Amino acid sequence: MIAAAAAALFLAASAAAQVCKKDLLVDDFGTSQQAVVDSATRFVNKLGGDYGGVGVEWNIDTTKKAVVIVSQNASSNFWFSKFDAGACFDLTGYSSIDFDLLAPTGSSMSFTLTQKLADCSQRAPDGSDSVYLPLSKYVTPDGTKKHVSLPLADFAKNINGANYDFIHLKDWTPVSFAPSGATFEISNIVLKGGCGVPGTGTNTGSSSSPTSAASGSSPTGTTGGSGSTAGAQKGSAESFSFSAVFASLAAGIASLAFF
Ligand SMILES: *[C@@H]1O[C@H](CO)[C@@H](O)[C@H](O)[C@H]1NC(C)=O
Repeated sequence: MIAAAAAALFLAASAAAQVCKKDLLVDDFGTSQQAVVDSATRFVNKLGGDYGGVGVEWNIDTTKKAVVIVSQNASSNFWFSKFDAGACFDLTGYSSIDFDLLAPTGSSMSFTLTQKLADCSQRAPDGSDSVYLPLSKYVTPDGTKKHVSLPLADFAKNINGANYDFIHLKDWTPVSFAPSGATFEISNIVLKGGCGVPGTGTNTGSSSSPTSAASGSSPTGTTGGSGSTAGAQKGSAESFSFSAVFASLAAGIASLAFF
């Protein structure tokens, strides 16, 4: 009895050392709701964070229970979801962003996490976005609904190679929906529970460590440059187009700063 109690206490004490959180439903798109965020009426998710997009047409379809996103300008587009109205969400204690995706064969998109400054007021300066990782790293679109799980640890470096600050997420941003005219349906967005700060080795999840290191430039971590790793896995033509749109994407997303 005493040993069991001691063991339980020990476990409780160990657990207390980390922040662990349960799964959190961002949106199931069963309803469509609006709220005033930053003085404008916007569509929001169950967490009160607003949605928006540039270079895409999008709408919430409560029959399909999905947000339907159509690429309009494949050379520069993005759609975003915030996870709180203030666009400064703490991802500590979560392990991945999960959702279901219906996307046509041959289509593509990528993902990044944008960054707020630690005071939660403004967007962090250029280069602070997490690495941009392509959908193809996780699933191959084929016109059927697929479950996608984006391990937060994959996004542990920003595009400058420094650590991404998971405590001050601005937006989760799918970008580069292509080709133009392609329709994407995203449903059941869930923040999967975990423990600790993603990408610092304290997560309990196992799927998080990229296995290959990026070329030369990443200063300290093991997860740097996942974008270029993913690029290298794709054909050189695709890598080229990924790089080519990168600058304009970063510029386009900069406009998010004041949303
Ligand atoms: C697509 O986006 C780019 C970059 O923002 C812009 O220069 C171009 O005019 C856009 N094209 C269309 C057709 O809107």
